[in-house]
Formats: sequence, C-alpha cells, structure tokens
Amino acid sequence: MAARPFHLGWFLQGSSVQAWGEPWTGHIGTTWMVPDLFLDMARCLERACFDYILLEDSSYVGESFNGSTELYLKHAIAVPRQDPSVVASLMTAVTSRIGIVPTFGTYAYPPYLLARLVATLDQVSQGRIGWNAVTGSSEFAAMNFGMKGMPEHDLRYDMADEYMQVVRALWNSWEPGAIIADRNSGVLVDHTKVHAVNHEGRFYKTRGPLNSGPCPQGQPVIAQAGGSPRGRQFAAQHADTIVAHTKGIAAAKVYRDDVRQRMAACGRDPDKCKVLFLVAPIIGQTEAEAQERKRMRLERARQQIPQRLAHLGKITNIDFGKFDLDQPLGELKTNGHQQTLDQFTARAPGKTLRELMEDYNTTALSVELVGTPDSVAAQMAEAMEQTGGDGFLFSLPNVSRRVLAEIEDGLVPALQARGLTRAAYTHKQFRDNLLEF
Ligand SMILES: Cc1cc2nc3c(=O)[nH]c(=O)nc-3n(C[C@H](O)[C@H](O)[C@H](O)COP(=O)(O)O)c2cc1C
Repeated sequence: MAARPFHLGWFLQGSSVQAWGEPWTGHIGTTWMVPDLFLDMARCLERACFDYILLEDSSYVGESFNGSTELYLKHAIAVPRQDPSVVASLMTAVTSRIGIVPTFGTYAYPPYLLARLVATLDQVSQGRIGWNAVTGSSEFAAMNFGMKGMPEHDLRYDMADEYMQVVRALWNSWEPGAIIADRNSGVLVDHTKVHAVNHEGRFYKTRGPLNSGPCPQGQPVIAQAGGSPRGRQFAAQHADTIVAHTKGIAAAKVYRDDVRQRMAACGRDPDKCKVLFLVAPIIGQTEAEAQERKRMRLERARQQIPQRLAHLGKITNIDFGKFDLDQPLGELKTNGHQQTLDQFTARAPGKTLRELMEDYNTTALSVELVGTPDSVAAQMAEAMEQTGGDGFLFSLPNVSRRVLAEIEDGLVPALQARGLTRAAYTHKQFRDNLLEF
C-alpha cells in the first residue's frame, strides 16, 4: 500500500427504480420492488472492499416543476422510492463487512423511534450501520408529516443539534457490559447498567432507556452532507463521514480544511471524520472509448434538461418550469439545499438557463474522472494528493450491473495495484474500517 490509501463509498440515489430509461438496466421498470439489483450491488462493492453504501432518501413525490407531479412520476425522478431501512436491512443480510448507511430525516422520525431503528439495524448487521443524518428541505415532505412547512434553514440545524444529543443519550442508555446472559444466575440484563435519559429540551422530550438494547458499535457511524456554513458546523460536531459536493480540487481542499478546522475548534480529532467527495467516473477500455462515453453522457444530459431541472427544483423548492430556458437566470433564494443552489447560480451571470444546465453536474460532480481504469486510478490519486484526503463517493446516474462490474473488475483492481485502496477489510465493524487510515 502507498503511504496513505483512501476510502471508497457509493452514494446510491434512493432505494427506487434508480436508472429508469438508462441502457443496460434490463427490466428494472417492473422488477424494482424486489431489490435484487441493490443486493447484487452490496455484494459487488463488498468484494471491491468499499467502506460503505449510502442510501439517499426523500419522503415525498416531487411537485415543484410546473406545480405538477407529472414529470417526476413519468421519468421516475426519485419516485417510486422504498423505505431505506428495509432495503438496508436486506443489504446487510447478504454481506458481512461493508457499511450500510440509510438516510433518515430528523423531521420525519421522533428521536426515540430513530434511535431504536438504527440500534436494531446495527445489531442485525453486527456493527455495520451508519445513519445519514439529514434535516430535510422540502415543504412537501414537511406536509406529509403533518407540518405546515419546513422550519427555517439554520433553525433546522439547531433542532438537529438537540436531536443528536437525544439519540446519543438513548444509545448510551445501555452501559457496556449491561447484557450478562448468565444461565446460572438467570440474569439476562444487569438493570443497574440501563438508565433513563429523561431529556426535556427546547424541541424534544423523551424518557428512555432504549428498549432495543445497545448498538454493537456503541454509537452508529454518523454521515452528513450539509454544505452551507451552518451545515458544515453541524457535520464538524457530529459526523464520522461527510458526503461532500464541491466543484474542483481547490474547492475540495478548502472544504475539507474548513471542516477539519471546525472539528478541532469543537475539540474533535480531525482525523476522526472522513470527507468523501462525490464523483461520477467515466471509464472506457481505451481513452477514446472513455471520451466517447463522456460525449454520450453530455448528449444525454442535454436531452434531459427538464428532468434535471425538475430534480434541482425538488431539492430547492423552486419551480424552474416557469423560467425561459434561453434567458439569463435572475437571483434565486432557497430554504432548501443552499449549497447546491449557490453552486448552480455562481456561474449564472450572463448565462442562459440552458447553458447553465449543459455543464451542471454532467460529467463531473466534485472532480472530473475520465479514462481507462488505470488512468482514472491515477487521476484519483492526484486528486487525493492535492486535497489531502480522504476518499470518494461514487454517484452514477446509470446504476446497472454493467456499471458495477466496470468498477469492481476494472477500476478497483487498478486502484489496488497502485496501493491506493484496501484489498481486504481489516475489521468486522464499520467504524473501525472507516477510521483505519
Ligand atoms: C451529496 C448530498 C447528498 C444528500 N443526501 C440527502 C438525502 O439523502 N436526503 C435528504 O433529505 N437530504 C440530503 N441532502 C441534503 C442535506 O442533508 C442538506 O439538507 C442540504 O444539503 C442542505 O443543507 P445546506 O444548505 O447546509 O447545504 C444531501 C445533500 C448533498 C450535498
């Protein structure tokens, strides 16, 4: 291995139809209810020694584009979408080392329910669960849970700070060694080691202790993705791994350095949180084939501008259907994903909406990676050298068994041959593997 290898994860856009309409997805339109593709994916990425698969989630049908659900349902834009806890649980049953990270919104689950669900998943997976802690951003999602709308952006993070305090207390309500399971004395649990929590705060109230018993990892791995300054502060306080969506190497380094400084200011060791940058590599058997695939991806993105705007509108609560594609875009504000909107509009002056969309997230998310397996491995090594770490989170629009094979049997062996990623898991539990290097 090289001096410091890096980590690999996969950002799976929801447990749903996923790549509907993409090539090489077989009968996904009718077979998606039984998640065989995702179970194959879990096995495949475990063979490739990935750290984790993160299952993104949202709990509403999009309706921002032209005030209608039409485009979302027609093109399977984040719908239908199954509950990630069920798919996560099935993924853990067919694997033994890889970490599985379902997303649950703090607005949707009372803290006790979430703490119990995540502890149960950590138990059945023998310590391989993470939780992607999101605060939610959609007014429609809020309404699905009986709220009038989402609380204001920064207030959501204030609420999530207290939420973290509560769920951590619940996970700690069972001291290590509380479970005795001694047949001779007939004692299963030492009741002196299981404690009430009695939390009564500004936003949440719970009694405890947690009746599920403890997490094998003590605390599950916490993943976070907030990119605004307030979001980064939240991540610095709580996260073991961060899903980072920045633009270019320089921005990636600034982002990571900022999070590490914030962690140190909170009294945390910055090496205890792994910042993984979103990428969508384009791999070909030859450089020419990779360039051709890039051209095809650009072409497809151009054809899908309404769908992509519908998705952007879904996460920013903005109706992009009302704008003329061939006019410059004015100033926009959101109570949804601020960082995403900022990145999008940062390039806006003088550009039409169509021009903005042509190169928005089409061939690169954080860093562009295009080439043969070996040259992409070299590009990844260079990006890590320049940012300082800690790894990549693959986010491909066209998840299929073919794409997975290209990663497992093409790219990963090239990375391993250069000593850049692990060739075997050292530990049984998720956090131990994540923090190994
Ligand atoms: C790469 C990435 C992945 C995200 N995944 C989810 C998700 O699965 N579910 C969700 O509700 N929000 C998700 N979010 C939203 C964030 O949790 C956060 O609410 C959003 O980025 C707005 O925060 P910010 O304004 O601090 O950037 C994601 C954001 C990013 C950048």
